[in-house]
This record gives sequence, C-alpha cells and structure tokens, in this order.
Amino acid sequence: MIGRVNHVAIAVPDVETASAIWKNRLGADCSLPQDLPEHGVRLVFVRAQNVKIELMEPLGLASPIASFLDRNPDGGMHHICYEVADIMSARDKLVEEGARVLGDGTPQTGAHGNPVLFLHPKDFCGILIELEEVYG
Ligand code: CO
Repeated sequence: MIGRVNHVAIAVPDVETASAIWKNRLGADCSLPQDLPEHGVRLVFVRAQNVKIELMEPLGLASPIASFLDRNPDGGMHHICYEVADIMSARDKLVEEGARVLGDGTPQTGAHGNPVLFLHPKDFCGILIELEEVYG
C-alpha cells in the first residue's frame, strides 16, 4: 500500500535555531523558513538525496504541534509521511483492518497541496503516520 517516504517531520521550538544546527553541524541543504498559517506551522525543508526532513515550529496559538512540544520541549520526531497512490482506498483498507484515522477520516489538503490523512500513533508503534496522495 505505501510507497516512498515523502518526509520525516521534526517538531522544534525554533526553526531558525534548528536549521542552523542542521546546516552547520550536518552540512545539510536547508530552505528558508516558510509560514503556513493554515497548518499552524513554520517550516524549514531539509533536502537530502533520498528524502526530505521538515523542521516544524508552532505558528499561532492553535498550532497542532503545540502540545507535542509541551511534552517534548527540546523537539522530537513528530511524524513520518508515506506516499500512497490512492488515499481513499488506503484509508478504507486501514479502517477495515481496525486502524484509526485522525479527525473525521476525510483527507485534508496538506502542506504540499496534496490530500493527506493522519493515522493514530497508538496503532503504529507510537509513531504518527501521515499518508499523502502523490500524483505521478
Ligand atoms: Co507532514
């Protein structure tokens, strides 16, 4: 069902500090910070040859990652995003097998403009899984 890993998202208290660590200590190629108010996050994309890493800082008071950072004040791995060819059939198969989809199960438009869904971490070894329908 799952395809490539699209990105691994890391919640951080401050993307500029985090991006300087990735750039200066790891020699990583980092984008400039981008605000995504509709998702409540400020993002820096770290480009690697085989996958993207996203550093996410909470943006606004209702940020969906605020409570994660309350529990993990230094930051931490927030989710893994896998690409799927057909998000509705992936969802239906997962639900049929007992996995829990967050929210009402309707795909939302994700940070890259594609439909996304999140799967409950308790059903996946403590890891929040994002599914993103990627065309082509
Ligand atoms: Co994501």
